[in-house]
Amino acid sequence: FEQGNAGPLVAAIDQGTSSTRFLVFNAKTAELLSHHQVEINQSFPKEGWVEEDPKEILQSVYECMERTCEKLTQLNIDISNIKAIGVTNQRETTLVWDKETGEPLYNAIVWLDLRTQSTVERLINKTPGRNKNHLKHKTGLPISTYFSAVKLRWLMDNVDEVAEAVLTHRAMFGTVDSWLIWCLTGGKSGGVHCTDVTNASRTMLFNIHTLDWDPELCKYFDIPMEILPKVRSSSEIYGLMVSPHCLCKSGSLSGIPISGCLGDQSAALVGQMCFQEGQAKNTYGTGCFLLRNTGAKPVMSDHGLLTTVAYKLGRDKPACYALEGSVAIAGAVVRWLKDNLGIIQTSTELEKLAASVGTSYGCYFVPAFSGLYAPYWEPSARGIICGLTQFTNKSHLAFAALEAVCFQTREILDAMNQDSGIPLTQLQVDGGMTSNRLLMQLQADILCIPVVKPSMPETTALGAAMAAGAAEGVSVWSLRPEDLSEVTSEKFEPQINPEESEFRYARWKKAVQRAMNWET
Ligand code: G3P
Repeated sequence: FEQGNAGPLVAAIDQGTSSTRFLVFNAKTAELLSHHQVEINQSFPKEGWVEEDPKEILQSVYECMERTCEKLTQLNIDISNIKAIGVTNQRETTLVWDKETGEPLYNAIVWLDLRTQSTVERLINKTPGRNKNHLKHKTGLPISTYFSAVKLRWLMDNVDEVAEAVLTHRAMFGTVDSWLIWCLTGGKSGGVHCTDVTNASRTMLFNIHTLDWDPELCKYFDIPMEILPKVRSSSEIYGLMVSPHCLCKSGSLSGIPISGCLGDQSAALVGQMCFQEGQAKNTYGTGCFLLRNTGAKPVMSDHGLLTTVAYKLGRDKPACYALEGSVAIAGAVVRWLKDNLGIIQTSTELEKLAASVGTSYGCYFVPAFSGLYAPYWEPSARGIICGLTQFTNKSHLAFAALEAVCFQTREILDAMNQDSGIPLTQLQVDGGMTSNRLLMQLQADILCIPVVKPSMPETTALGAAMAAGAAEGVSVWSLRPEDLSEVTSEKFEPQINPEESEFRYARWKKAVQRAMNWET
């Protein structure tokens, strides 16, 4: 790569639960040229509540853009080579803002939030046979605290400003992608209010067969359809950057098309080039999400997995679907050990601590902080640590926390294999936690199959950049299979015998049962 002669570049905003990134890729080689990351504060106003500040989220995007552009300039790369911007985001997190003032009307309610637990229980009790899968035929999802519709309902019922704005036709609802695209394309002075099919498919208001908002679902949750964003494909020009904040010292991003939008797990599937039916990836972020491409038809799970829209890469392109195993707490357990227990100062210390003992010494840690997601969907489950002895110390606990991430992945992989009937022979992985080599080895040991990690870890952002660069009217990134760049990777082979692995997994399953019934 010749500096100063970059050719077309494509940028991606990756707004995750724990941090925001802005990354710039070379559209021809997929090389990552520059990036910047800013942590996002989470607040926990009450037990089970998780909120983030929409303005801080937006500000973090501007900061990342500015710093990334500065770094590009230092590398002698002209930022006018950036031809498109893609957006990828934490999904389900719910925002409502006032379209006239541009002000958020409440904090963003984060996907992990449990405040709607009683609403969810009430809704399930009302369905025939107390069936949490009552809406699954249309949405692909069980009724759960996880998805946006119940969060939006809570906002309308409990925040006067939201109720008032809905009544006076000034309210706009959106997930983080909608909020960012609206702000970046001009906000109250004509911002574009849209979302893409992948994000929409996580709201419970979206029909995954018709690929549009569903009047019956909206009626079920009593949500006025006028507050919903327009649903677009994952790869098309939504609007142009017009915000004055996009004027960095190193040049302007104004006028660049925003032309890619995917929920972060879908973006990772694209970034890992899982375009063929049967291909799968597991992303270790705040949570952990295993998605398997099921092709042009939505497949309904019999084993607690979600059916979701994987991507639709162009207005006239077909939608592609995925089965998803969602785990709420993966990286979040590391943050908890750091912030709540203080047994590590930085996330990277966890690997050292766990490696110093190399075993949990019979300690099992089920971090069901937000209930349990797939395959159980049990909002009343709570975290437990069991198997403690006088001998147990913080290193064993650190090891048990890493093992918990691996066991949870094993549970969703087993469900995936049962649903598809064709077991995965290796697992493609990505996300922040994959830099933890002990975790990767442990994962291979517990799954008894190899774990394959790409050498470029930013696959989520890469997927959003690919979608943005390939959009009609931009066309600087080719998605033809023969043009996709080779992915170099590292493989972790299982090193323990399967009996040992099964023994530990059986113990884990027992611990999960305790976490599910901790009150009885
Ligand atoms: O569904 C929630 C998911 O999109 C959040 O992803 O990477 O922030 O854990 P992450």
